[in-house]
Amino acid sequence: MISGLSRLAQPFLLAMDPEQAHELTIRALSSGLHPRAIMPVDPLLRQRFWDLDFPNPLGMAAGFDKNAKAPDALLSIGFGFTEIGTVTPLAQAGNPRPRIFRLREDQGVVNRLGFNNEGHEAALRRLRGRPRRGIVGVNIGANKDSADRISDYVAGIGTFAAVASYFTVNISSPNTPGLRNLQQGEALDELLEKVMAARNAATGEGRRAPVLLKVAPDIDRLQIDTIAAAVRAHAVDGIIVSNTTLARTGLRSPLRDETGGLSGRPLFERSTIVLAQMRLAVGPELPIIGVGGIHSADSAWEKLRAGANLLQIYSALVYGGVGLAADIVAGIARRMHREKLGSLAEVTSTGAEDWASRAP
Ligand SMILES: Cc1cc2nc3c(=O)[nH]c(=O)nc-3n(C[C@H](O)[C@H](O)[C@H](O)COP(=O)(O)O)c2cc1C
Repeated sequence: MISGLSRLAQPFLLAMDPEQAHELTIRALSSGLHPRAIMPVDPLLRQRFWDLDFPNPLGMAAGFDKNAKAPDALLSIGFGFTEIGTVTPLAQAGNPRPRIFRLREDQGVVNRLGFNNEGHEAALRRLRGRPRRGIVGVNIGANKDSADRISDYVAGIGTFAAVASYFTVNISSPNTPGLRNLQQGEALDELLEKVMAARNAATGEGRRAPVLLKVAPDIDRLQIDTIAAAVRAHAVDGIIVSNTTLARTGLRSPLRDETGGLSGRPLFERSTIVLAQMRLAVGPELPIIGVGGIHSADSAWEKLRAGANLLQIYSALVYGGVGLAADIVAGIARRMHREKLGSLAEVTSTGAEDWASRAP
């Protein structure tokens, strides 16, 4: 089916410059030149969070479709949801190329894109023009040269309130200098206060799109507790753990010292430990999206066990093709049947204590 076809194209894409390969993939998806997954939705994989019905737990992570060019194509090839962005109010070019590196020996990726994107208006135009089917989150950020970064997030909420299934407040990219400072105590409080107020104001009597906070994996237990307390205090609707890491341990690839955020398989362990620690800090109810290093049904399963309700993936698709998503979803469903489980809630957090106690 789909994965067979996309696997044929994969060697060609892997021979290309990573950013050109990515642009080609987006172009193929957005022009409909992609095979559709002929995949029935397995009722065992369905979950409802907030007011959204997720057909399966695996979403496309932010950064793949920054400018909202292919949300419907992604939903049609087996993703349960997708997240556009990060978008900033004004278009910006990002860092000079090359700025994406494949760490092939480690099955990892380093990127230092720096929020290259076409800005709010371009993404809004595309989202307005699409049928409102399927779950499409909007990941918002701040312009590099913004004099008031918090107001950039507030602007994002106002601009996309009518089209976002949910919002992700991204304060965890390592490629915009100083951005991660927004994860600290007072700055985080001010940001969340204003963002939640904007969300409540923008929606009026309509629906209130849930707001999720996306955090870095490079945080210790104290920071996890600070973030969990702020999320509770401001009634943030969920957390995404995690973005890319600045750490570089145990890598073999000659490109390992490139500056930027590391993702893919080498991120799995660290991001899963932080996910589990965050789960224990926020309690069992708050929805958490687990992301970082998922590359198979088994690694997806571990993320669920560590405390994730939903999952996202990006880097493994660089190596395995976008069709890998449908394979992983099918693998999760098979395991649910094999273990005679009735819902994903029976998997989530069953290994949180174990994962949380591992040394990062
Ligand atoms: C090339 C690239 C660009 C990314 N851009 C963004 C972004 O714009 N916003 C964001 O929140 N995360 C971004 N990410 C991070 C991913 O959404 C994800 O959190 C991270 O890559 C870990 O997942 P993975 O190991 O499955 O790739 C990017 C990742 C990559 C590899």
